[in-house]
Amino acid sequence: MSATATTTIRVRPLGAVIGADIEGVDLAALDDDGFARIARAWADHLVLRFRGQKLTDVDLMQFSRRLGALDRVPIRAAGVVMAADPRLAIAPEAAEFVSVISNVKIDGKAIGGLGNYESHWHTDMSYNDIPPMASALYGIEVPPTGGNTSFASMYAAYDALDSETGARIDGLTCIHDASRNSVGELRRGFAEIADPQQTVGARHPLVRTHPVTGRKCLFLGRRRSAYIPELPLAESEALLDMLWAEATRPEFCWTQVWQPGDLMLWDNRCALHRRDDFDDRHQRIMHRTQICGDRPY
Ligand code: OGA
Ligand code: MN
Repeated sequence: MSATATTTIRVRPLGAVIGADIEGVDLAALDDDGFARIARAWADHLVLRFRGQKLTDVDLMQFSRRLGALDRVPIRAAGVVMAADPRLAIAPEAAEFVSVISNVKIDGKAIGGLGNYESHWHTDMSYNDIPPMASALYGIEVPPTGGNTSFASMYAAYDALDSETGARIDGLTCIHDASRNSVGELRRGFAEIADPQQTVGARHPLVRTHPVTGRKCLFLGRRRSAYIPELPLAESEALLDMLWAEATRPEFCWTQVWQPGDLMLWDNRCALHRRDDFDDRHQRIMHRTQICGDRPY
């Protein structure tokens, strides 16, 4: 297959402050100029969609690796097993780096993560000291309705804060809860958290600077069990509630309605995402990579 000529690549914004379609590109045959164009568009739009792709797991890994080293697959929720059906499984050579996001069950056992549940606003694995910079999610089979994925710009959220709030949160940190995954399932080896002051997880600045764009943005991770250790619990709760309400205002968001062959690439440093639930009678099968990032500052 011939390499994609840069001149054919078009960038079409999707939301007012987040999201763009990248058209005229075959990600399985991307040249360096094409990648450079994509990298610039990604810095501008935070979330990119590539429609009509036909990617093997190895293609998905190769494209993802252009952004940086791949992260190993996250700890599975209890009960998730590898698929027995080879049509649904990831390629053996990809097992270390490609994970399955799916509600499909074989013999009562889930082939992938997140089921058909709603996931609340979050950014991926920010409970680690060095969270992934990006996630790439490739839609293989999607339900006719539901299971949409929304994204919110944390640059827009930060920029919209009044100056008093901006000054107050600059310099504060937040502890990001490691105990549950994005659909609220307790992860293996973690105990229930009743008091946010006891939360186990990484401590990051509430406002981070994007290492590529140099812009500041809110870095919230996930609301559940979050704690700002510089503040008494009640003040931390009130401030986090306020910031979360501001951060996810509709004007900062855009929603992806999936088609098979869509590859979504999002920037975990400056965007939140969430997912709608969907009818479990339909199959949703996605393959996913994560790209390693830097320590937030
Ligand atoms: C994820 C995630 C959203 C979706 O893979 O990190 O949040 O649409 N998935 O399945
Ligand atoms: Mn996620």
